Amino acid sequence: MKNKLTPALILLVLALSACAPQAVQTPLAAESQPMPLATVESESAAVGFSEDVLPIFVESCNDCHGAKQTKAGLDLTTYESLMAGSSNGAVILAGNSAESILVQQVVDGEMPKRGDKLTTEQIQIIRQWVDAGASND
Ligand code: HEC
Repeated sequence: MKNKLTPALILLVLALSACAPQAVQTPLAAESQPMPLATVESESAAVGFSEDVLPIFVESCNDCHGAKQTKAGLDLTTYESLMAGSSNGAVILAGNSAESILVQQVVDGEMPKRGDKLTTEQIQIIRQWVDAGASND
């Protein structure tokens, strides 16, 4: 019984291993490269303050720039407080992410001061929102 099954099993394993790499690699290869850029770009029009930007501040910034404390005089809990800026002045220059101190700080990895840095996608969301005019949407 066992002796008859063994060759059949070996054949099955061989057949599977010959097919498996292709079956696994093809969908991955098709998805992995064009996806990130295309996703970011196609969503650019849809980036909004309350839905996309504020959750990033809640997750990574509000411990120091929120209800408990406002480091540098900067409160990142609402649109109004964000646009009011820090004790040094505005941190967002609407329409110009490159000149916005807040964007510079997250791009340089200065902020958040502690904890995990923002991901490339999160930084991209903030940038797009600022470049699109930093509106309260
Ligand atoms: C662990 C505390 C902490 C966290 C978390 C944090 N910050 Fe700060 N932030 C500070 C401190 C303290 C300063 C004052 C400058 C300094 O010490 O570097 C500051 C300064 C800033 C400034 C400069 C204000 C100015 O005009 O000088 C910006 C902009 C800023 N933070 C944005 C953010 C953003 C955006 C996040 C979240 C992604 C964040 N911070 C998270 C502590 C924090």
